[in-house]
Amino acid sequence: MRTTVGIIGAGPAGLLLARMLHRAGVDCVLLESRDRAYVEERQRAGTLEQSTIDALRAAGAHERLDSEGMFHDGIEIRFARRSHRIDFAALAPGRQVVIHPQTKVVQELIALNLADGVPVLFEARADRVEGAEGDHPVIRFTHEGRQRALHCDFVVGCDGFHGISRRTVPDALTRTFSRRYPYSWLGILADVAPSCTDLLYAHSPNGFALHSMRSSTVSRLYLQVPNGTDPGDWDDERIWDELSFRFAVDGDWKLDRGPITAKSVIPMQSFVTEPMRHGRMFLAGDAAHIVPPTGAKGLNLAVADVVVLARALTAWTEDGSTELIDAYSDTCLRRVWQAEHFSWFMTTTFHREPDQTPFEDRLQLTQLERLTAGGPAAAELADNYTGLPIG
Ligand code: APR
Ligand code: PHB
Repeated sequence: MRTTVGIIGAGPAGLLLARMLHRAGVDCVLLESRDRAYVEERQRAGTLEQSTIDALRAAGAHERLDSEGMFHDGIEIRFARRSHRIDFAALAPGRQVVIHPQTKVVQELIALNLADGVPVLFEARADRVEGAEGDHPVIRFTHEGRQRALHCDFVVGCDGFHGISRRTVPDALTRTFSRRYPYSWLGILADVAPSCTDLLYAHSPNGFALHSMRSSTVSRLYLQVPNGTDPGDWDDERIWDELSFRFAVDGDWKLDRGPITAKSVIPMQSFVTEPMRHGRMFLAGDAAHIVPPTGAKGLNLAVADVVVLARALTAWTEDGSTELIDAYSDTCLRRVWQAEHFSWFMTTTFHREPDQTPFEDRLQLTQLERLTAGGPAAAELADNYTGLPIG
């Protein structure tokens, strides 16, 4: 097989890149190791920032977003039994976030790509990338029991944190930066209407809790738990009791309960690999970086990477220019590190470390007071949360 751009991975990054390239007249082939049903049903996050909303609309992949998405003009922050709203309309005019599950984004992008005849090969596992240092890289892959080769002008690793593309880059040419957090999230899906209008982030003496949603009848909630927690140790009543404690606020608000339909423990890590390019192979999305979910940046960073890369590969295809290609890694890393900092900031401000001291307790409360006082700290939060412009 031969194509201009060989893409590894049919997550949001790979699927959106394939659509943008196809619409720009750039040939591409997308290889995905899993089957379609698995990819479409994988539960992930679901908060899209303004630049992602704009990118999906520009790519003609926004029908379900605009018809099913739950748009928000702010978030709620709770601490010391008090509630505060971060008003995006006032602090980041014209910018929103939308709760729209990643599964729906992936489903829509798969349907659009297949309808347009974009070659998306499921159950096609990329085994290695050869010749990335030269002008004609090759993806060796296994599909339908056969060893095959995809000859490309460029390869894009959109294969996530556990994919093969990052490992193609020689260690001597890579710098990695990472931090593991001393806590995880216990995440649940529940058949109950959300007890909040906006996303609700809570700091409490027992740790962090987050109230999100998936529809008007399905809620998505998370609570901080120790690393290594077994979800089986948490029955429904214990979960709802703990969430009620952590969201507690003076006044008559209460957390409505319902049957929990899914339960999982999610570890938290920050990670960046530099550079996001090796010869004619580019890394995008989780293949290059991951963030703790507190700032809701994972999917949004993946989208921003491929928006930048699609522009660069289209320019090369049109007139052979390499300026945008050569700038890809630095352009993306500026935004990646801003999102890494914001995600680290949100995580360390709201979560209590196992050995946290009373002094550090006070520092957290002081930081939360600054965030909710409506001044520059609140504006910076709104700016980061609704998403910085794509470079
Ligand atoms: N060959 C082919 N496909 C592969 C291979 C391989 N060797 N290895 C991994 N894949 C596929 C995975 O099956 C997955 O479908 O690559 C895809 C990577 O998708 P994501 O992990 O979703 O990564 P990305 O597209 O960057 O999206 C990041 O997804 O993981 C969440 O929180 C993350 O919201 C963020 C978003
Ligand atoms: C989610 O809805 O899954 C979600 C929302 C906001 C976050 C993390 C997860 O910060």
